[in-house]
Amino acid sequence: MCGIFGIVYKQDRLLGPTLIDAGLRLSYRGYDSVGIATILENGVIDLRKDAGKVKSVAEKYNFKEMIGQRAILQLRWATFGEPSLVNSQPHLDSEGLMVGAHNGNVVNNVELREEFISEGMTVRSMNDGESCVHAVERFTKKGFSMLEAIQKAYDVLKGDYAFVITKANDDKLYAFKKGSGLVAGIGDDFTCVSSDLPSILPLTRNVVFMNDGEIIELSADHYKIFSVSDGTPIERAVEIVEDTMEAAQKGGFEHFMLKEIHEQPKVAKELIHLMNNSSAVEVTIEALINARNIFFIGCGTSYNACVTGSVYFNRISGRTTIPVAATQFIAQYNRSIGPEDVGIFVSQSGETKDVLNAVEIAKQKGMKVYSLVNVVGSTLTKLSERWLPLACGYEISVPATKTFTNQLVAFLYLAYKMAKFDISDLEKIPGYMQSTIDDTKDQVLDVLPYLENWNDLYSLGYGVTFPIALEGALKLKEITYAHCEGMLSTEFKHGPLAAVTLDYPILFTTIEEDISLIISGINEVTCRGARAIVIGPEDNRLKSNAQHTITISQPTPEIASILSIVPLQLLSYYMSIQRGFDPDFPRNLSKTLTVD
Ligand code: M6R
Repeated sequence: MCGIFGIVYKQDRLLGPTLIDAGLRLSYRGYDSVGIATILENGVIDLRKDAGKVKSVAEKYNFKEMIGQRAILQLRWATFGEPSLVNSQPHLDSEGLMVGAHNGNVVNNVELREEFISEGMTVRSMNDGESCVHAVERFTKKGFSMLEAIQKAYDVLKGDYAFVITKANDDKLYAFKKGSGLVAGIGDDFTCVSSDLPSILPLTRNVVFMNDGEIIELSADHYKIFSVSDGTPIERAVEIVEDTMEAAQKGGFEHFMLKEIHEQPKVAKELIHLMNNSSAVEVTIEALINARNIFFIGCGTSYNACVTGSVYFNRISGRTTIPVAATQFIAQYNRSIGPEDVGIFVSQSGETKDVLNAVEIAKQKGMKVYSLVNVVGSTLTKLSERWLPLACGYEISVPATKTFTNQLVAFLYLAYKMAKFDISDLEKIPGYMQSTIDDTKDQVLDVLPYLENWNDLYSLGYGVTFPIALEGALKLKEITYAHCEGMLSTEFKHGPLAAVTLDYPILFTTIEEDISLIISGINEVTCRGARAIVIGPEDNRLKSNAQHTITISQPTPEIASILSIVPLQLLSYYMSIQRGFDPDFPRNLSKTLTVD
């Protein structure tokens, strides 16, 4: 997830150290490139940027000596275009008279780039941030003011983003918000704006929070807010922020994990926008249709997404796919794969050694390597013929949450496309996710006291909820340190049933169509004294057979399966807190496993 920062003073001054500090404070979001443009009173734009971390790029380009009356800083988390100097932000307009940077995704940037080129503009990069600058340039060239041009650019730029922009011969900065975060800071002799509070708080605690659809015009000594739809001025008072820096980084949540659980609706929406506009989707579908065998390959949570994806492909597109853990892929299929086969390698980090080892074998055998990956520019994106970004931004917490749900959304999207289904159903996922987060929290908290003294649990599912139960069990193990075995509900009677004692907690996850089957599973364990906790539809049969129910909407069976992981994530989170652990950084684990 990119970060932006802009600042305006009355006159030229040394800005480098302030900008480096703002960059470092934005870096917790994750990034691969960094850039700064300062604009001097005489209208000269000094632009320095490159792929790399703040410290190294700052040293290479001597950021600390940069002076100016205004400045824009951007930290880029690549989605469109590889991490590179040219794709780094900020970007200039055609003549180098305007400079800007964005945060978020402009999903129609590929078409826009062609339009801008055909209109005679100079487009230098593959990055969607550049589209924001040219979209404004298109209208300033026709004589519109900056405010009018931003209003008109809004109709052109599709997606969720925020951007900050300025002209060389001006003394103001302009910023616009649509879907991505934006907050302004009001100092004694400056104003500033950023995607994130932490870059503002060391400078001032007086802030103005922006809403979607609003433009802010910043001068050194005042700010004005306008509605993007008709340019009407909007009155907004300054607020004083009391948060600590750490609290600000966590966006008001106690832990990054909880913040990332709450980000799921937003990142799902962004991913669906991106996939709607991605040429890589069509290419991937084409390869899948023509493949002899299709393998979905990953580790840990990403493997659980592969199993879920495989169920979706069967249910939606009637196509057999083989989900396999990366290391087992080598052991089980190394001799039988070939150029007719396609592998979709799934990884949040794109650096997991077990996954990269499997890619190496696949490539040796001539198999087609595609991937679903969150970190663009990671080794996996470089080794893949085509990759689709998961578009989750940086996931700080070791337990994967938003990357798992976006892996499921991506698989479901591909299955729908393969079946030539209308994907409008999927656009409802973010809204359903939000209500699931809102509605299940209290239900989860009600169950918590019954789990307090247990260090041994089961998490059972069937069909499309089987891999959800696996993922729920993984989350529980990872951050509560309790043993939780995830398995097929129908397998429980074939052995594990022997473990059941009085009050033994067993989690069941089900969708509407499997209720009858799950009820017999519930009764097998409750008649032996177990406590059944069911995550499933609102249903009287479930309520009368289980001790606890957590209700999930059922828009479609597959979407219901995606929603079902939310209460399991929340349950793991609150159990971890109840036990006094830090869910963000569980013992013995690392976010990226680069060892065999
Ligand atoms: O980065 P990857 O998706 O390749 O990582 C794979 C696993 O290490 C990862 O999913 C791990 O299981 C998570 N920490 C689970 O929350």
